[in-house]
Amino acid sequence: MSQSYENAYDDSIDEVMPTCSSDTGFGPTHQNPTFLAHLRGLRKISVVPSEVRVQAMDTNSGSGSEESANARLNNRSIHVLPANVNTHTLHLQPMGSMEPISPLPNIDSLHTLPTGAPIYAKSLLTKYKKAPLVLSTANDSPIKLSRASKQYLYDETGQEFLDCINGTAHVGHCHPQVVSAGQVQMSRLTTAQGFLSEVLSKYVKELVDTLPERLSVCYLCNSGSEANDLAIRLARQYTQSDDIIANEGAYHGNLGVLVDISPKINKSIPQYRNKEWSHTVPVPKFYNGKHDLADGETTADLVKKHVQDFEDCLKTICVQKGRRIAAFIFEPMFAIPGVHIPPKEYFQEVFRLVRQYGGICIADEVQSGLGRTGENFWGFQNYDVFPDVVTVGKPLGNGHPMAAVICTKEVSDRLGGYFSTFGGNPVSCSVGLAVLDVISNEKLMSSAKRVGRLHGMALKDIMRKYPNMVGDVRGMGLMWGIEIVAEQASKAPCPELARNIMFGLKARKILVGITGDHRNILLFTPPMCFTVDNSRRFCQSLDDVLNECLTSFNIQSLSLQLQSDGRNFLLDDVLDPQGSKGQSRKRLASNDPEEDSVKSENEDLIEDLDDKIDSKRAKMELEEYEDLD
Ligand SMILES: Cc1ncc(COP(=O)(O)O)c(C=O)c1O
Repeated sequence: MSQSYENAYDDSIDEVMPTCSSDTGFGPTHQNPTFLAHLRGLRKISVVPSEVRVQAMDTNSGSGSEESANARLNNRSIHVLPANVNTHTLHLQPMGSMEPISPLPNIDSLHTLPTGAPIYAKSLLTKYKKAPLVLSTANDSPIKLSRASKQYLYDETGQEFLDCINGTAHVGHCHPQVVSAGQVQMSRLTTAQGFLSEVLSKYVKELVDTLPERLSVCYLCNSGSEANDLAIRLARQYTQSDDIIANEGAYHGNLGVLVDISPKINKSIPQYRNKEWSHTVPVPKFYNGKHDLADGETTADLVKKHVQDFEDCLKTICVQKGRRIAAFIFEPMFAIPGVHIPPKEYFQEVFRLVRQYGGICIADEVQSGLGRTGENFWGFQNYDVFPDVVTVGKPLGNGHPMAAVICTKEVSDRLGGYFSTFGGNPVSCSVGLAVLDVISNEKLMSSAKRVGRLHGMALKDIMRKYPNMVGDVRGMGLMWGIEIVAEQASKAPCPELARNIMFGLKARKILVGITGDHRNILLFTPPMCFTVDNSRRFCQSLDDVLNECLTSFNIQSLSLQLQSDGRNFLLDDVLDPQGSKGQSRKRLASNDPEEDSVKSENEDLIEDLDDKIDSKRAKMELEEYEDLD
């Protein structure tokens, strides 16, 4: 139906320059009803080729007053809170505003992102009595993204950034196969509400085939939050109980029930009232966690302590309070609390306990699914455990909003009705199929494994080089957490330094986020097409930034002493493949017992790093590695 924009817009819109006609031949963007709905309430709109600008104006005065614009916007579909509210929302500000209409509302978002917050090193200031450091004054302006391709993001001036945070673009931003699958399907059939379609059956089969056999029932929905909400409903129906255990610092989504089980969000809600059915257990952290290794203790002893915490929690709920447990929901790699990977035994024991007390186990794979950890398609498979329900969102659609819940037949049988208008629509299924196809065709899982292994080695060398800043480095595949501390001995979290590092990287056109309870952990989850070259660039830049911090903050780095002792770092080899191989050999031949276990593996990998590897070649080499397995 053709519609003039006057009918579609409300009367607050007074100017449109309909000069934009898209390349796809679908006509001007301004005729798109969704687009119009989003812009409704904004006073002045100009649409120019490949760029949309939105400016909020005061309806009465015609001036661009920020306060009145915000007041108006609060009643509109785009929700922007007034400047004086300390908002913890994740969203939303129309990007591309000609003038900012409020301070960025996502400053306290799920992850801290390098987008326009001032940076001061207050605690370092006290500690070292130095002036607050801003690594670069030019890098605190908001990034307004305009396009993306592969592992690169581009702002509106065409500046390219290496994307190390947006794992949602799992197989690479705007992968042509995924884009084309969506476009083609969109021109055939977009909605099949309540009906079957071939693409739906095919997608469900392919997705379910990636999971252990008993996880055989699949529900398709539209976001990770929706998936987790359904998972909780499944658990409650199945167990006829209400209580949920999640981890401290967890985030499982933004729907009502999920906020109640997500301390990351509910802790920041003013006067939030804890729900009696929602419980938390500590994350099994082996660095800066609840338990530290005492003299003579092993990792196995720490695992026991964490399992004991879990059992204590169950006893409090079920014995002391007389309640009944429905589920334990967890992120297999604990990405949101800062990437923590406990030994298998932890999850194996915890699963046993949860089931013993009548609950089921829900693996939230929103961050860790679809091969990100390199070793397995699903994060939970790294622990040889079998959850009753698995949820996944972000990577499934490579940015297209889609999610899934996969569970056992027994659990599903007790659900009763489920319906979703958009869940499982043919466009999403086509996109989802293309994503699965690309993961397999481009061997992205084995690439994540190999690139991740090198990346981890380089990061660990950086940690050794700057022990008074980088306290710990954890991860696997293409998911890493880099924990920033004020000094090695105290392990005190240092969010200000983390921020400086994040902005230092941004100045070098590399984007990472910050996560963790103390906002001191750099989170690295790039698209899966991230290459060895990219890793070198990341590590070299991180090295440079840390070095800059070292001198600026006058941090005594143990590494300087180590270097003057003639100790060399593998990092040099990884970053500078032309450099002397003998250096890393020397280190590998050192008496460092920690290195022994990875020694031969490292040697093999270094062998192959001698030449400069471009991304295509890296991929071919990775395939060869895979064959050697
Ligand atoms: C672990 C985890 N679970 C659930 C969600 C919610 O997903 P969505 O934002 O698609 O609702 C997120 C989002 O960041 C997440 O990281």
